[in-house]
Formats: sequence, C-alpha cells, structure tokens
Amino acid sequence: MNPELFLMIPGPTPVPQAVLSALALPPIGHRSTDFKATLKKVYPALKKIFGAENSEVLLYTASGTAAMEAALANTLNPEEEILVLSCGVFSHRWADIANTLGIKVHLWQVDAGLGHTPEALAEKLAAYTPGQLKAVCLIHNETSTGVMNPIEALAKVVRAQQPETLIMVDTVTGLGAAEFEFDAWDIDLAVSGSQKGFMLPPGLAFLAVSARAMTRHHQVCRPGFYFQFAKQLKSQHEFSTPYTPAVSLIRGLEVALAMLLEEGLPNTFKRHQRHQKMVRAAATALGLKLLVEEDSFASASVTSVLPPEGVSVDAIRAGLREQFNIVIANGQKELLGKIFRIGHLGAIFPRDVLMTLSALEVVLHQAGYKQTPLGTAVKAAQQVYLETHDYE
Ligand SMILES: Cc1ncc(COP(=O)(O)O)c(C=O)c1O
Repeated sequence: MNPELFLMIPGPTPVPQAVLSALALPPIGHRSTDFKATLKKVYPALKKIFGAENSEVLLYTASGTAAMEAALANTLNPEEEILVLSCGVFSHRWADIANTLGIKVHLWQVDAGLGHTPEALAEKLAAYTPGQLKAVCLIHNETSTGVMNPIEALAKVVRAQQPETLIMVDTVTGLGAAEFEFDAWDIDLAVSGSQKGFMLPPGLAFLAVSARAMTRHHQVCRPGFYFQFAKQLKSQHEFSTPYTPAVSLIRGLEVALAMLLEEGLPNTFKRHQRHQKMVRAAATALGLKLLVEEDSFASASVTSVLPPEGVSVDAIRAGLREQFNIVIANGQKELLGKIFRIGHLGAIFPRDVLMTLSALEVVLHQAGYKQTPLGTAVKAAQQVYLETHDYE
C-alpha cells in the first residue's frame, strides 16, 4: 500500500484536512442565505490577505490566467502601450495575453534566474514619455524559475516616473508566501489563484482592483462580459456573485482564509522564508547549483536546483515519486530537464521539507551522485531550522 502522493510543487499545493472537509459538504444554492453568509466572511478576508482593505478584491470562478486577462481587458484599450517585465514563463504571459488583445507591448526580458532591480527599472522607464505607458506589468514570484521580485521598490519607481500608469502584479504564487501590500504599495491590479498559497484545489481566481483601475475600467471600450469589473463588483457589494460560482470551492476558501488569518500573515511568511532557506542550504551543502544565485531574489515559494552532472531531472523526479510518493516539478520550456523545482508553498511544514530533502539524498545516491555522505542535506536544513527560531 502506498501513501498518498505528496505535492512539493508550486501549485497545486497540499490541501489541509479542514479544507477538504468543507469541500466535501453537499453543495448549497448560490442565492441561499447560507452562501451569502459565507461570502460575507470571504470578501473581507480576501482584502486582508491582499492588504487591499481600501480597494476591491474580485472573486472569479476561473484560473489565474483568466484573472490576468481580466486585469488587462478591463483597463486597457487596443493600441495602448504597456511595459512588461519578464523573467520567465509566467511574467511573459502578461505579454502573450496583451498581444492577443491588440495592446502594444514593450517587453523587457532578463535571463532565467535573474529578477528586476529598481535601479534598472528607473533607467528603463526614462526612455518613455510621461503618460506613454498605460500599464507596467510585474510579477511578484516567477514560478518557472523561483525568482521573487522586490515589488514594493519596483512599484515606487513606476509611480515616481509614470504617476498615472497602472501597476499590475501577478502574485499568483507570491501571495500568502511573502509580504504583499496592495494599498500601501499603491498597486492597481493584483492577481492570484486558489491552488497556491490559498491551500485549495484549482478553480478560483482573485483580482485586487484599485480606485485608479476602476476609473480606467469605466473608460475602456470593451471590458468583456463574464469578467467585467463593474458587474462583478455590483454583485459583490450585495454579498453575491453575478453568475453561478464554484460554491464548494468558496466554502473551502472560507476555511482556508480563516486558517491563514489565524496563523497570522507575518508567521506564514516566516514559515515560507524558513523553508526557502532550508532548501537552499541543503542544495548548496550537496554541492548543487541554485538557478537563482542571489539570495535577494530567492523565492519563498519554490526553489530551482540544477541536477548534478550525469543525473537527469527525470530520474530524480521518478525516484522521488515512485519510492517516496513525493512530487517535485521539472523546469518549464527551455528549462525543461535542466532544473528541478521544489515547491514549498502553502500548507507545507518543516516536517515536509526535511522529508523531501532526506528522500532527495537517497535518490541522488541511487543515481550515482555520492559526492557528499548521506545526511548532508538534512543536516544543513536542520541547522537552518534551529537558527530560524523566530517562527511563533
Ligand atoms: C506566477 C503564475 N502566474 C500565473 C499562473 C497561471 O495560473 P493558472 O494556471 O491558474 O491559470 C501561474 C500558474 O502556475 C503562476 O505560477
């Protein structure tokens, strides 16, 4: 008999038992009093998670990509110009969607493993006239590489040089893992999804919208139908939804949000930070190379590691899955087969990280990589665990 597969990937992430129990309840009517009561809890709690208590957070039955499309389509007209800061597959998606919508994209791409600095952004923005860029699209956590960008500092630069520009942030795998303050950082649109730090299955998308973005929304020529902000917001203000939502997922969300707020976001962030440090220390102790070399860009949600010479990513992943029922991720697109990614996002605890690193050492050993004695990675992670004792 095998234990259940354990997901150490950057989404979908493990779902806690209390959330699973809520998901398993028989569905109720989406116009019922009971469901209204759920939405009365869910909508304000979502605002807390985004740090968007002075803004709106729209809840869609959709995936993260849909919310990215909604952000662009609801606030931009075709032919308007935007700047996309790309550092991997998902940040590039802003450009892919915008191109489809006929928006003119200026793409600024950096190499895999690198992020964007405020200094370089200031230089980049100097090439545009004030008002030229209707939006600047950023990513908080680039899941395909494990880069976490300094959103607060980047947003400050944008606001200083292009005051009216909409700042859009993909925080699909950043939210709930690292600090994110929508209102305080003056962000206009921020996107996330249920299957990540929210500890739920896929199916819900969240989109924070500022007053500035709402104003723009009322000026665009084709804001769409299903994702139209105004219609969605009108319903949300009545603690309802315009169409039939994923009722069961939203009941699960009520529980997951309560769990996050009970842990306390600063504690949640410390937990993620600790796991990131444990994994990075373990990989380094094993003599493996990290894709993201600079600690300042290291993701709290996922860590990308290069396999040792002569050992394939497929062999590592197969060994972990077949012998230990642990799933880790491959690289994507040009990084396929070049890196493996260990997710530490959502309901992941030190037990899970130590277990994964221990199994990884066994698998590497079996694959012929015996440069370090067994226990090296675990010991390095244990050391970090002991040193990061400020987690409450
Ligand atoms: C950073 C980031 N943005 C966007 C997406 C797309 O989200 P979805 O697959 O829910 O459409 C993902 C999915 O993994 C992601 O990691």
